[in-house]
Amino acid sequence: MNKQTDFSRSLHHVDSADHTNPFRSHVLNCTVHQIKLPHIVDSEGSFVIDTEGKRYLDLESGVWCTALGHRNPGVDAIIHHQIDHIMHTGFSYAHPILEEAAADVLKITGHEDGACLFLCSGSEAIEVSRQIARHLTGFKRSMTLHDSYLGSYSSTINRDAGWFLFDWRPCMACAQASTCDITCPSLQAIPHDIADFTFEPGSSSGFVRFPPVALIQKIVGVVRSNQGKIIANEVTTGVGRTGRWFGYKHYAIEPDLIAIGKGIGNGYPVSVASLNRKTYEELKDSGFHYSQSHQNDPLGASVVREVIRLIVQGDVIAQAAQTGAWLRSQLEGLIDNQIILAVRGRGLMLAVDICDADVCEKIHNALLARGYIVGNRRGMFRLDPPLNITRQELQKFIDTLKEIVGKI
Ligand SMILES: Cc1ncc(COP(=O)(O)O)c(C=O)c1O
Repeated sequence: MNKQTDFSRSLHHVDSADHTNPFRSHVLNCTVHQIKLPHIVDSEGSFVIDTEGKRYLDLESGVWCTALGHRNPGVDAIIHHQIDHIMHTGFSYAHPILEEAAADVLKITGHEDGACLFLCSGSEAIEVSRQIARHLTGFKRSMTLHDSYLGSYSSTINRDAGWFLFDWRPCMACAQASTCDITCPSLQAIPHDIADFTFEPGSSSGFVRFPPVALIQKIVGVVRSNQGKIIANEVTTGVGRTGRWFGYKHYAIEPDLIAIGKGIGNGYPVSVASLNRKTYEELKDSGFHYSQSHQNDPLGASVVREVIRLIVQGDVIAQAAQTGAWLRSQLEGLIDNQIILAVRGRGLMLAVDICDADVCEKIHNALLARGYIVGNRRGMFRLDPPLNITRQELQKFIDTLKEIVGKI
């Protein structure tokens, strides 16, 4: 059966759906994003493929998830292997792969003799980490930077109560930004009852901004001195995205808890909360409980283990750092101060500032028509390709972008 016949029945429904209006489809799309390609049915490496066989270079890695590319043979094989045995376990029995996967995670997080919990999404890894911090400190208030995105749960979306938000915009213009004076009124204003400082190291709600190192180190010092916990939100910046295993490594801090998601599952919905030894010791007999049906499932753990193995074996992060530096220099070569204004990023997490949102939308649509998927964020587009994308694939993108911008 050819692919077109294969999908003709479901396509009838897809074609009659209006993807600009979530209430005209039977699939509720409640994200802020519009589905522009409703016919994607296949994938290969850095590409997704539609029903007509048209290939799109996926420079967003899905939702920053396919760190090793779509249909990665190693990850696919491990999933097939695991589902042939057991994918889910109950509360009273466990699979030995968990201990092995946990040891591998703790090696990359540096939380030796700590512990980790396998969960289902980045939001959940952050939620559990914050619950642990609140439980251990007895404090009810969390702290984060004013522009952090910490997941889709109401506990992080709704920040009217229970949060102290640190506005770091003035720090960018501060003459002392490189040293950051502890007597600064902004630092002095940090309350003493902060359960956790949850820090997103360099994504800033997807806008790819990097808070100053000295500021973060000072905040960490203040929160810790009051017994608060430091949580690194590595959902987007982790697993090699910034050219190192984790984004916090660029800040020379040691988080107590690390929330890992997206790339660690390469598209499979698994996430991890990693606890350092001290936090784990404190938690052990503290009466903390958290349970949901799919935590510590062997299928997710086996995927995590394989993703780490493949990254280490292929030296993928060093390769991603080099590819990222090269891509950045290529993009910088396109800066014309009229349409393309600036490029920033770390590793393979890059943002390109465009003169205005309408022009950005035009570029985005033109790229899509030519077979390139980039993230579009109000006057900025974003590139978070698979870490193992090739320079040849990226060169074609650069050439196409140049052509499109030249015609605007
Ligand atoms: C910085 C950041 N933190 C947390 C999350 C939440 O992860 P998830 O969507 O897997 O729940 C996201 C998701 O995009 C994110 O970008």
